[in-house]
Amino acid sequence: MKTDNIKAIIREMTLEEKAGMCSGADFWHTKAVERLGIPAVMVSDGPHGLRKQSEEADHLGINESIKAVCFPAGCGTAASFNRELITMMGETLGNECQAEGVSVILGPAVNIKRSPLCGRNFEYYSEDPYLTTEIAGALIKGVQSKNVGTSIKHFLANNQETRRMSSSSEVDERTLREIYLAAFEGAIVNEKPWTVMCSYNKINGVYAAESKEYLTKVLREEWGFDGFVVSDWGAVNDRVKNLEAGMDLEMPSSHGINDKLIIEAVKNGNLAEEVLDLTCERILNVIYRFVENRDKKAIFDRDKDHEIARKVAEETIVLLKNDGILPLKETEEIAFIGKFAKYPRYQGGGSSHINSHKVTSAWDMVSHLDNITYAQGYNDDKDLTDELLLKEAIEVAKKAKVAVIFAGLPDSFESEGFDRSHMAIPNCQNELIARVAEVQPNTVVVLHNGSPVEMPWVNDVKGILEAYLGGQAVGAACADILFGEVNPSAKLPETFPIKLEDNPSYLYYFGEKDKVEYKEGIFVGYRYYDTKKMDVLFPFGHGLSYTTFAYSNIQVNKSSITDRDTVTVSIDVTNTGSRAGKEIVQLYIRDVKSTVIRPEKELRGFDKVELAPGETKTVTFELGKRAFAYWNTEIHDWHVETGEFEILIGSSSRSIECSAAIKVESTVKLPVVYTMDSTIGDIMEDPYANQYIGELMKGSIFGQDDIEESSDSEGAISKEMMMAMVKYMPIRGTISFGNGTVSKEDLLKVIDKLNHNE
Ligand code: BGC
Repeated sequence: MKTDNIKAIIREMTLEEKAGMCSGADFWHTKAVERLGIPAVMVSDGPHGLRKQSEEADHLGINESIKAVCFPAGCGTAASFNRELITMMGETLGNECQAEGVSVILGPAVNIKRSPLCGRNFEYYSEDPYLTTEIAGALIKGVQSKNVGTSIKHFLANNQETRRMSSSSEVDERTLREIYLAAFEGAIVNEKPWTVMCSYNKINGVYAAESKEYLTKVLREEWGFDGFVVSDWGAVNDRVKNLEAGMDLEMPSSHGINDKLIIEAVKNGNLAEEVLDLTCERILNVIYRFVENRDKKAIFDRDKDHEIARKVAEETIVLLKNDGILPLKETEEIAFIGKFAKYPRYQGGGSSHINSHKVTSAWDMVSHLDNITYAQGYNDDKDLTDELLLKEAIEVAKKAKVAVIFAGLPDSFESEGFDRSHMAIPNCQNELIARVAEVQPNTVVVLHNGSPVEMPWVNDVKGILEAYLGGQAVGAACADILFGEVNPSAKLPETFPIKLEDNPSYLYYFGEKDKVEYKEGIFVGYRYYDTKKMDVLFPFGHGLSYTTFAYSNIQVNKSSITDRDTVTVSIDVTNTGSRAGKEIVQLYIRDVKSTVIRPEKELRGFDKVELAPGETKTVTFELGKRAFAYWNTEIHDWHVETGEFEILIGSSSRSIECSAAIKVESTVKLPVVYTMDSTIGDIMEDPYANQYIGELMKGSIFGQDDIEESSDSEGAISKEMMMAMVKYMPIRGTISFGNGTVSKEDLLKVIDKLNHNE
């Protein structure tokens, strides 16, 4: 509907109707205004399947929702690094929503995986904001192509479950921009989600729902967001403040309580009616966008969509280790061990929980074969070794040629609502893997978990598959990869540290009471591990294939650019093995020398290419200012420091195959203000200011022509030492060292000249 028509409807609405528009009718619906023909629409979770509840609604997945299809969770979809695939998954979800009359699906969830401990990591994508925002954008593109909205969530800095409704995430400006906001930014700017869901927590002391800074200034004024902001379920505290800040729709219903507050605030002049009108306009816009574009013919074909879930899952399973054991031969004597072989953990608990219409386990795929046996190995309700199950598993493993153990995190270990306290899988499973590996040298482990786990047995097994929480078809996808029907092509969207203590947020993660300081700053994930050159279990971007790839011929079309230009980088990738496969090519940028503290490298591009054996394809990247920039807190903007950068292309953050150098020149002059405290060294580095250095040093003992002369014969004062002392000396120092010839007035005059660089 045209804006003018929506405005006309709003003019017809009473104050009460307008206030009512700003909150849900119940758990999942907006309010209808029958008098004016305004329909109600339904929203549903998300993000990796449709959780449409009919009766007895709740937001934590306690009551059943309709039978639907569970796709791989965020942890897995990010591992695909495949934009087109995730767009296709989005199209499927969008179609399901059309068929079920759902106007907005509540996802994607893009909070950064700051620590392996976050209970909701399984829903989130990555420790890297670029990968996150690209995959989120791909999903949004797919869903919205079906005229169904998305709700990118949870905005902002909601990276833990502990005290999630009250804690304040204390994050500095640069870290917010480079990591936490950046995860939302690309997806919002490029794909224009219909709605954004604000988080429960506070950001630097202000509730996300009350933050004009982020909901209006950043989201709307900077990024051009034109949809509505919905509260996370129950995130509203001060409804009137929320409206002023730009938080439009309260969910679920406040049963009229907050509607009354809005009416009162308008009546007593505490809230301008124009604010309320604008809020209604944003909400109505989305409502009509959906109702006017209904696809009445859409059909939710669950079996068909199950196959799509399987296709997606095939690209979300990461082959972490393979000492020549995989793929397996279907004719071999193989033991499938572990409860997850029959009952895979394929999704997480909480609001994203799907009532799957069917689930395929790995065992379902092989149970008809006589040469494949099964042993349960462990229970997943309690972390206690069951000696009988363990003994049976060891026996079964001994008799086979290969043992495949399906392990990982049970529901009780990770879920929405609470965080993990450690990074281990249950002891009973670790014991099972160790004991089986003792008797069976050909052991493979398949893991089901939403976030990194420790692997004390990593060197004792020959193969490891990270299957993440791969949705209801995960078992079929696992079997396809184990037996080589499908060539694995996913890579880790996060670093697997050796132990929890290695994680950069380890010391501060849970914070103190309601205050969580993000003291590791921008050093999240590989930005930290790689800069520290730390050993990790598996690095960011790592993932093997059954074929091999070679990188060659890196080309950069310019050797030097300004920060207003773009540069094209290309690389040839060849499949050097004997099977068709897909490679994820990653491009990182390193600032060779910087005056600000920067990570050793940052992901700025990726592409996934499919190659037949022997085939070569050229992968091309376009890099603009943002690829080289950091967030400058003086100018509150992205900034590139003039200098040399390295373009690194590789198959993981730790396997860089080719690199090239490029010079980038800044066209932005940063404001420099010299004072008495500015150092001589800083002035010498500034080409303009340096011309006055002689005037400044005049009369100072350091200004004497040859410092060399002042070196004493015993070497107590060396030239280097004198140079260093001069470099770090503030301007005012020339008075003390000036033999009485330099006055403060003289210096102020020179400083004035330094500050007049027009
Ligand atoms: C979750 C959201 C979810 C909402 C509705 C909240 O508890 O944080 O992600 O969309 O409930 O179920």
